[in-house]
Amino acid sequence: MSKATLAREAVKLVKPGMVVGLGSGTTAREFIKALAEARIDGVVLVPTSVDSEILAQEVGLGNALRPMWAVDHVDLAVDGADEVTRDKLILKGRGGALLREKIVDYAADMFVVLIEEHKLVERIPKASPVPIEVVPWAWRFVARRIEREFGGSARLRTGEGKLGPVVTDNGNYIVDWTPPGPLDASAEDRLKAVPGVVESGIFSKRRDAVVLVARRDGTILSF
Ligand code: A5P
Repeated sequence: MSKATLAREAVKLVKPGMVVGLGSGTTAREFIKALAEARIDGVVLVPTSVDSEILAQEVGLGNALRPMWAVDHVDLAVDGADEVTRDKLILKGRGGALLREKIVDYAADMFVVLIEEHKLVERIPKASPVPIEVVPWAWRFVARRIEREFGGSARLRTGEGKLGPVVTDNGNYIVDWTPPGPLDASAEDRLKAVPGVVESGIFSKRRDAVVLVARRDGTILSF
């Protein structure tokens, strides 16, 4: 319910003709459904995962979908997150999507993050490990190097049962890193500097994001 409320609030920001980035995850799915209901003229939509692309097709937005290479700007991106601090250090990727999200969310003129109150945290990470998308061929080496350089533990994300590694939309694996303590913004660049790391779920470069928080009392906080 609160995700749907957030989604409707975000749809109010969408104007006819805008290029809109569609985030990924259960909250972003609510936004996609609300957008379909709003029937706004001439929007162009850039999905950040195959999951969001399929949903957009299913709810009748298929004609508006474009890949990132087909647009030259993004007016607005709307996405969920796993954890957000008051100073807008954002952790994403728990659902397995992060690379296309980061490309689109960082490109957007306006980036709107939709979260429920329990995701507003003092420090990251709190309850989630840090998802890191890595080149499959090097995954074990990369995981060990992250542990050696930064401490903590890094584990390959696997499917339920014996399905093997989770493969991202980009054909990569995910290593979930539990650092030894809280992270600051520098962690994004430090992780990216490790050869074999494609991208991480630390989004530290959108301090201008608009964060909408669905509070437990039913109101929405914006900061
Ligand atoms: C997808 O992998 C993520 O980056 C999501 O944005 C994030 O996990 C939030 O997802 P939910 O809205 O499902 O909590």
